[in-house]
Order: sequence, then structure tokens, then C-alpha cells
Amino acid sequence: MKVLVTGGLGFIGSHTVVKLIENGDEVVIVDNLYNSKLEVKDRIKEITGVECPTYVIDVQNKEELTKVFKEHRVDAVIHFAGYKAVGESCVKPLEYYDNNLNSTLVLLEVMRDYKVHNFVFSSSATVYGEPQRVPMYESDPVVEATSPYGETKVMIERILKDYAKVDKEFNCALLRYFNPIGAHKSGLLGEDPNGIPNNLLPYIAKVATGELKEVNVFGNDYDTVDGTGVRDYIHVVDLAKGHVLALNKLKTNPGLVIYNLGTGKGTSVLEMIKAYEEASGVKIPYVIKERRPGDIASSFANCDKARDELGFTCDFTVLDACRDGYHFQVEESERKKKAK
Ligand code: UD1
Repeated sequence: MKVLVTGGLGFIGSHTVVKLIENGDEVVIVDNLYNSKLEVKDRIKEITGVECPTYVIDVQNKEELTKVFKEHRVDAVIHFAGYKAVGESCVKPLEYYDNNLNSTLVLLEVMRDYKVHNFVFSSSATVYGEPQRVPMYESDPVVEATSPYGETKVMIERILKDYAKVDKEFNCALLRYFNPIGAHKSGLLGEDPNGIPNNLLPYIAKVATGELKEVNVFGNDYDTVDGTGVRDYIHVVDLAKGHVLALNKLKTNPGLVIYNLGTGKGTSVLEMIKAYEEASGVKIPYVIKERRPGDIASSFANCDKARDELGFTCDFTVLDACRDGYHFQVEESERKKKAK
């Protein structure tokens, strides 16, 4: 299969490209480098031995995108490209709606022009908003999200559902990710956000390497195992595998399908810090702070549907993810020092 991957140089995108290549698929990458680096392309080659055709263009640029579809007879598209910072989206809502919605619409139009019918969309557990229950099921209501970023996911899901109703040839998997963490075991691919990380694992990683002093634990009075927030952390390589399985499913012409991709297990912030200490052998200092506005106590997936319909199961534990994430962070910090 020839698969076009938008945002293919980003965190989840790059791991998915590797999995696709390992699966024997041909990959074409489109990425505007907004939150990624061109050298990731070389790292993918180092891991797989394959150099993917890579186009540094914006998905919103219909003319440029059309050229890519002209040059490659694409069978399917996986759409990762998009803005994803929750806090930033509250400050720049117009930019978030403009970029995330328009890029998807342009992509769908070009796909329609070139009769490409298979589409995988990076959605998020954020579409469940404040969950009515945990674990969350795909059949749970999609509600108003707690941020403009989250709302773009809700809106794009809606657009895709409406489109699937009228285009009977259109196959689409909405993949609702829980909390992706970890890195490729080579230490070549991982998550290294610019500036101070917002998400827990990148933050812990920078405390582990001494770049930040201590972890701020946002609240210890939630109704959870130890009072700290509980999330479903999934190794990014497992998540990447979920995309290959979703593409297999689309080959059976299912129309629009929805899957949670998580582990089905919740881990608290303090449990996560402990796991990271165990995996890295480094002490992680932390302080308890006020709750972070907009946070929920607990979020974890029911993944039975992905297991039963896709054959999706996770190979890695939270401890594995901490080990791989730490390995990547150490290697990346070394690489940055050398480059200076
Ligand atoms: C966040 C987003 C979600 C997005 C996901 C991407 C919010 C409200 N939600 O999820 O939409 O899809 O990232 O992975 O931002 N924590 C700390 N200290 C920190 C950072 C986090 O204690 O420095 C805690 C949080 O309170 C939470 C847990 O760690 O309990 C996980 O937080 P985070 O990694 O930011 O992910 P989510 O908030 O679940």
C-alpha cells in the first residue's frame, strides 16, 4: 500500500512511518516542520534503511498538495498534521480552528479529486470532555471539549462523519488516542518539545536530565488511588502499530469506524514518577501544586473494540515507555550539546 502521512516527521507520525515501512508499505511524507525537524527523515532512514519521499509543504496549500497526489498514486492517507498545544489553543483559538480545520478540508478535497478513499484521522480522548464514566467507550457521547484544540478534534470528527454519510466509498478510522509517551528503542525518535513542556512525561524527562529542577504535581486531592491525576499512558510504538491495523481494517470497506487507542489501564502522576525513577535510575524530585485548571481526575480507555475488531493489543508497559523515553532524552541532549 502507498500511504501518505501528513505530519510524518512529528512524534506520533515518525513512529507510524517506521511501523508502516516495517509492514512493507510505501510511505510519502508531508510536513511543514512547524513542530518537527527535517533530520527526522534521516533518522527514519537510519532505522529502516528506507528513504521516504518527503515534501516540506503545508497541507493547507492545495496547489502544492495536489502536486504530491499527482506524483504518487496514493492508496490511503494518515492525517497527523495539526496544532496540538492545549494551553496555546486557548490563547490563539482562531489560528487553531483555521489551521486544523482547513488543512483537513483541503486534504479531503484533494483526496476526492484523486479518488483516494481511505483516511485515518488522529483524534483524541479529549472528545469525551469531562468523562461521565471511566473507562471511556467509543459509544460514550462526544461533548463540547475543554479547549479550542479539543474542539477542533470534535469538529473534524463531525465533518468526517457527515462526509462518510454521503460518500459511500469513503473509509475512515477515527483513532482516539489517550496519552502517548515513550520513544523508539533506538533513541533516534521521540518527543522533545521546544521550551518548557506542558505534558507530564516530557517534563519528567527534562527533570531526569537536570534541565528542569523538579516536577510540579498538579493536585493531590482528586478522588483517585493517591489523590493525583490518573491517565492512560500508551507507548508510542504501540500507538503506531494501531495505525497499521486501522489501515488493514479500511481495506475491508467498513465506512467510518471509531477506536480508542490506549492500554485500558490508568496510572497516577506519582506512580508515573516512581516508574520513571525505576526505569532511569535517577531520583525525580517533585512538589505538590494546585490543580491545573481544566484537568480531570481520571481518564482511561476501554480498548475491547480495537482488540476485537483490529486485533490491537499493547506490547509495552509504562515502565518500558519510561525506559525508552529516558534513553531518547539522554541521546537527544547529547546530540544537541555536540551540535553547539
Ligand atoms: C493533555 C491534553 C489533551 C491532549 C494530551 C496530549 C489537557 C487538559 N489535555 O492531556 O487534550 O490530547 O495532553 O498528550 O491539557 N501533570 C502534572 N504536572 C505536569 C504536567 C502534568 O502533575 O507538569 C499531571 C496532569 O495534572 C494530569 C497528568 O499529569 O493529571 C497528565 O497530564 P498531561 O501530560 O498534560 O496530559 P493530559 O492533561 O491528560
